[in-house]
Amino acid sequence: MEKQKYTITAALPYANGPLHLGHVAGVYLPADIFVRFLKHKGHDVAFICGSDEHGAAITLRAKKENVSPQEIVDKYNKILADSFEKFGIDFDIFHRTTTDIHKETAQDFFKKLHDKGSFTQQTNEQYYDESYNQFLADRYIAGECPKCGYGEAYGDQCEKCGSALSPNDLINPVSKLSGKPPVLKETTHWFLPMEKHEKWLSEWIKEGKLDGEKQHDPNTWRKQVVGQCMSWIDGGLQPRAMTRDLDWGIPVPLEGADGKVLYVWLDAPIGYISATKAWAQEQNKNWKDYWTGDRKLVHFIGKDNIVFHAIIFPILLKEHGDFILPDNVPASEFLNLEGDKFSTSRNWAVWLHEYLERHPDKVDELKYTLTSIAPESRDSEFTWSDFQSRVNNELADVLGNFVNRALVLTQKYYDGVVPECGDLSAEDQKVIEFIKNIPAKVEEKLYSYKIREAQAEVMGLARIGNRYLAETEPWKLVKTDKERVKTIMNIALQVTANLSILLDPFMPETAGKIRGFLGMNSFEWSQAGKVNLLSSGEQTEKPSILFKKIEDDFVEEEQAILRSTAEESESSDHEPQKEDIPFDDFLGMDIRVGEILEAKKVKKADKLLELLVDTGLDKRTIVSGIAQHYSPEEIIGKKVSVLLNLPPRKIRGVVSNGMILMGENTKGELSFLTTDKDLENGSVVR
Ligand code: 2FM
Ligand code: ZN
Repeated sequence: MEKQKYTITAALPYANGPLHLGHVAGVYLPADIFVRFLKHKGHDVAFICGSDEHGAAITLRAKKENVSPQEIVDKYNKILADSFEKFGIDFDIFHRTTTDIHKETAQDFFKKLHDKGSFTQQTNEQYYDESYNQFLADRYIAGECPKCGYGEAYGDQCEKCGSALSPNDLINPVSKLSGKPPVLKETTHWFLPMEKHEKWLSEWIKEGKLDGEKQHDPNTWRKQVVGQCMSWIDGGLQPRAMTRDLDWGIPVPLEGADGKVLYVWLDAPIGYISATKAWAQEQNKNWKDYWTGDRKLVHFIGKDNIVFHAIIFPILLKEHGDFILPDNVPASEFLNLEGDKFSTSRNWAVWLHEYLERHPDKVDELKYTLTSIAPESRDSEFTWSDFQSRVNNELADVLGNFVNRALVLTQKYYDGVVPECGDLSAEDQKVIEFIKNIPAKVEEKLYSYKIREAQAEVMGLARIGNRYLAETEPWKLVKTDKERVKTIMNIALQVTANLSILLDPFMPETAGKIRGFLGMNSFEWSQAGKVNLLSSGEQTEKPSILFKKIEDDFVEEEQAILRSTAEESESSDHEPQKEDIPFDDFLGMDIRVGEILEAKKVKKADKLLELLVDTGLDKRTIVSGIAQHYSPEEIIGKKVSVLLNLPPRKIRGVVSNGMILMGENTKGELSFLTTDKDLENGSVVR
């Protein structure tokens, strides 16, 4: 396998807030897994990130917290760096865009393009706040969204309906500084005439060709990335201002440009270059090697950053002339949370640093879950109960159980010493074949950025191992055929050793623990696929439990934290309409009129009532989270709507068969949904 050179970047997070699980699942975790894998393969890799510390996002936050922008970025740079470290996202450097080296790099870059004539100068009218004597960045203007009527849309985007806007689109705009309507005033800026670049961009994105030569394989680009870029290009690119009137940012390095700074979306991607410089200095390397020649540049980002990384930055890089263009821009879709979009303003989020404070011992559990649901090609959803099932049914019952059995039985039968492998049965051969084929499958998926599928392949090996032990039942065979048991255990240990290598990019801590149990002090990725990783006679250790099961309490507490912090936030808006569902999904729900016959509190759970409900078809137990809204006595005899066909779920030790449907307002108040006329129990709701 030929060694390749890679420069991998992960979107620089704004230093104006912490990271939530959506950022982690979409950008940082897949980038980290990819890099760990490339490094194991022996490629020459630089993994670059840092905090994005300029722009209106920062100054607005500073205003809100009543401190200086510098204080804001210092504070959040620390929080970000700290949570990346604790979560095991191993950048080669986590840099900052408020450093001197970045300022110099960005100014030189701008100057070179300016001197080459890559920009045009234009004078336009822009919104200006007369009380503050300041031009208003897009984010500083709010008003009514022309598309959905939401009253608090920003000048660049409506958070409610997601439409991209420009400040002039807003109805009744007001300044976020003074709260007054802004006026229009002329100002001059340097623009990037993007329309001039449509032709080559289109050829580059669709065919992977640059100046007539093959630059990348367009089939490896995700469909949504190509689709989004082509829809921008086909719709006609517009000149975009590369400078802003703002007092926080990198000064435009030209005479007569006082009070103007570089547009944050020019400044930030250049941050990848300046971070590489800073790292190369520390490492005594030549930074240029990482941005020129036969090297693959890959940007991991979220879908809201596609235009900046696959259109604007490539134009800038090409105009500059000294740098390579990206080989791929694996952008992810969005992760939703418990049925709703992540929202910073409504505090509807699981924050990484808070998760790590609450569960410092559950890093790989979160990594595994987020990779399993990574929004690679469509939006996906994180829920705490899904987290619980993945940890319990996959990590604990499959992976943990298999590794534990293999090692515990080895302890029991051979004092931990690896037994010899004897004659192979057809069953053994099948497992061995599986082991031999798996590395190529995992690698193929990883090289094509299908990280979620790659992890599923590795888990497939744990499943095979688990099934192999369940079917061969060495614990029974040991009484009758000791020789055969040695072979089975040897193979089970070889599976375990392979897992400890292949899992490493995805769950490095767990992989390391397994290697510890096996006494493997070091490993090479290239050893994966071998069935003699452990030699007979080698000593293994008594294992500890890899994954503890997640109890229902854990899920309830996390859900409660989410709801209670969300309620504290200012917004009292109704949830936006959810995406359309197929009509059949609706028809599939069996909702009936039922009657509450009995009700009592659930022990040690102040939110729950255990109900006995007459559904017309049967009398069944349903646990419902209504205890803070209704007392048991007041609801006996109530007619309610019941969703019948949910799988039974154990909640605090009580098996619940269905769900009572409730109305909930923005304050979190609950109310039964009952019928207007008295219909008999079992009547259908549709
Ligand atoms: O969307 C964001 O969070 C931006 N701060 C990403 C910047 S990526 C790059 F250009 F630096
Ligand atoms: Zn809108």
